[in-house]
Order: sequence, then structure tokens, then C-alpha cells
Amino acid sequence: MSASAARRASSRRSKSPAYSGIDPAGYTPEFSWRGNDLYCEGVRLEEIAARAGTPAYVYSAASITGAYRKLNQALGRQPHTICYSVKANSNLSILRLLARLGSGFDIVSAGELFRLQRAGVDAESIVFSGAGKSRDEIREALRARIGLFNVESAAELEILASEASRSGSRAPAAIRVNPDVEAGGHPHISTGRRSHKFGMDWETALPQYLQYRDSRWIDWRGISAHIGSQILSLTPFRRALTRLARHFRELADSGVKLRYLDFGGGLGVRYSNEKALSPANYAKTITRILRPLRCHLLLEPGRSIIAPAGVLLMRVLYTKENRGKKFVIVDAAMNDFIRPALYDAVHPITPAKRPGGNNNGPKIRVDVVGPVCESGDFFAQDWPLERVSSGDLLVLWGAGAYGFVQTSNYNSRVRPTEVLVEGGSFRLIRRRESLSDLIRGE
Ligand code: LLP
Repeated sequence: MSASAARRASSRRSKSPAYSGIDPAGYTPEFSWRGNDLYCEGVRLEEIAARAGTPAYVYSAASITGAYRKLNQALGRQPHTICYSVKANSNLSILRLLARLGSGFDIVSAGELFRLQRAGVDAESIVFSGAGKSRDEIREALRARIGLFNVESAAELEILASEASRSGSRAPAAIRVNPDVEAGGHPHISTGRRSHKFGMDWETALPQYLQYRDSRWIDWRGISAHIGSQILSLTPFRRALTRLARHFRELADSGVKLRYLDFGGGLGVRYSNEKALSPANYAKTITRILRPLRCHLLLEPGRSIIAPAGVLLMRVLYTKENRGKKFVIVDAAMNDFIRPALYDAVHPITPAKRPGGNNNGPKIRVDVVGPVCESGDFFAQDWPLERVSSGDLLVLWGAGAYGFVQTSNYNSRVRPTEVLVEGGSFRLIRRRESLSDLIRGE
């Protein structure tokens, strides 16, 4: 082999995803093999694909409910509200399901507020985060009487106070503090360092709390932080929360008595080889630090509630080989699911049906790619997959969070449909877009 061929081969190898080969249906209990077929709860995935078409997002209601309850129970007697982070998956039916479980909500835009209003959610349970809330969005959220504004800059605080005074109401507020903690994850989803745009450093936040301590328009209710996403170690959580707890006490000593401590989201999940934190250990770490404060804890989990509950179904269009490299071309593309292209995310892909009904068929390394005209349009590279052919149904795992919400119409492709499974039945919770949806508004 020539030196350059060896280099190419080794760079190809290093791109091969590390994958334990464990059947993903084994770590998401609501998805399982029955004989030769994969099921979501009591429904065969092939049946959903036949009725709803592909590509299709499929979510398990039992998985969402289970994840919510597990975290809720782990927090035990610590007064708390789980405010599900709407950005992870904002389908109205999912929001309604979580509201029925007693969840509150974390939003970042007027659009997410609108969705919650449509879902009939109690505004008091909504917290509003984000570094760039516009004046209009602030006004809208004040009018709706949401529960908490997480303010991220002195300039935003001024706008909040002025809008509150205009409307003659007092704005329930917290400052999002940037705790300057390194929190793993992909650089695009890590948010808690001094160098990031999020929150205020403590030296800036404290004077703001004091300046508005006796304000008629700002009602200090809390302090907040969110340090990043897909976090797989307790250390950054412990470090950041210890800092936040110290600030909470310091504020009390200065006469700013708060009720809420909002610790954001970030709890990581298992996609392929990751070892996820257990909600129990995460909750124990948090409640131990908070116990002496006697505060009401808010958490804003997104991914950990919904990522494992969802899969993306897609069909094989063609298989082909280019100079020894094998490709499986599917009917979903980067516009339908962008995490691999955007974050190098590794999501296992398996067939929905196997001759042997298990995960042990012989595998070959393939790139699973979509029809979009870009090399970045891949779902997996050098992925070990059973031999598949045109028409076979494939399952991309862990697609419940940051999946549909990050779709686009790139290449004038219509957005996929979404399906919710509950026990032995399923229903469309969003229809597939039509061609006329593509040009609506043009
Ligand atoms: N709270 C705030 C203020 C946030 O910014 C986020 C996520 C969350 C809560 C929820 O975090 P989670 O529990 O889901 O980690 N699109 C990326 C993830 C971006 C996360 C942005 N912020 C992805 O696909 O990985």
C-alpha cells in the first residue's frame, strides 16, 4: 500500500464510530423485538411505516412518561418543578402529554409560548430563558403572566422593567448566572463557560440584583444556570450547583430572598456507547447540595425526557458501491435529522426486521446517506449494518430530542410526519407536509 493510501485508510478507520454493538432495542425498554419484528410498545414499526409512510418520527408515550416520572420521583421531597425544555421536541401532543403529567415548561421564544398556549398549558408553570428575548417577546410573555423570566443581561433587565411598568405588572425574574464550568459535550452544545454568550458572570449579576432589590417592576424570585447539554458526568453539575448555592445564600444575606433555584437541563443520554448518568444519582447530587437552602428547585430537562423515546423510520432506496466503499441510500436526509451532520452525533441504525429476529446477523460497514446534494448528508459512516436492500425499513435510534425540531425544507423536501404510540395503538400527531406547504407564504 502506498503511503497516501495508508493515510487514507487510517483516516477512514478513525472515522468509524465506536459502537459496542449492543442492540439499541435493549436499552430502550419500550422498543423491543417480538419474533422477527421491532415493536414500539404494542405496535409493529413496519405497520406504522406502512400506514404513515417514511420518513417518520415515532415516539413512545410510555417512554416519555417513564422518564418524567423517574426524575420526578428521584427528586423526592425536595420541593421542585420539572420544566420540560420545549426546544427538544415541541409537538403539541407531546406538550399536552407532559402537561398532563404535571410538567412545567422552559421556553426560549414567543413561538414556543404560542405552542404552549395552544396546548392549553398553565402560564404560571412557564419559565422563559434565552440570551436574545426581543421587546415584543417580553411583552407577550408578561401579558401571558408566565412564572419566571431568566434574564441574561443588564440590557434585557432594563427592557423587562420598562415593559413591566408599561403594563403595570411586576415581572417575576431570575438572573441566569454563567458559572464558568466546563461541561463536556460537543462544543456547539456546551454553554457554561465564561467565553460563552449565555448568562451573566457573578460580578455583573450581583449588582443587578441589588440595584433592582426594591424595584416596583422587578420581583426577584430566583437564580438560574444551564451549563450545557448531553452531560455525562456529575462533576460539572456538582461544581456549578455549589457555586449557585453560594450565590443564593449571598443574596439572602444582602436582603434578596429568593424562592427558586433553576438548574437548567443537560442530563445526557445513551445514544451508542455513552454511559448515561442515572436520574437517581443526578437527583441525589442536586438535593444534597440544595437541602440547606430550603428553595424550590426548577429543572429544565429536554433530551433526557424525550431522546430515547423517539426513533426515525426510513426506507432503503438503493444500495451501491463506489471503489469498495458501500453506501445505503435512504429516503430520509439531513433536512429530516441533522444531528450527525451538525455535531458528529452517532445514532445507531438497525433494520426493523431481521431474518433471525436478533442483532447478530453478519454485518458489513456502510455509509447510510440521504438524497440531499451534500457530502454532509449522512446518518452514519462506516456503520456496521446487516445486508439490506431496496424497500427495507431502517430505524435510527435516539431521535426523539432535537430531531423533528431541527428539520428544514432544504432541497425543497417536505418535513416528515410524526407518530405517537400509546400501548397498542398509534396516531399521527403531525401530518407529513405537502408540496403546497413548501410554497406557503411565498
Ligand atoms: N435549558 C436551557 C436554557 C437550554 O438552553 C437547554 C438546551 C435546555 C434547558 C435543555 O437541555 P437538555 O436537557 O436537552 O440537554 N440541538 C442540540 C442541543 C442544544 C441544547 C440547547 N439548550 C443537540 O441536538 O444536541
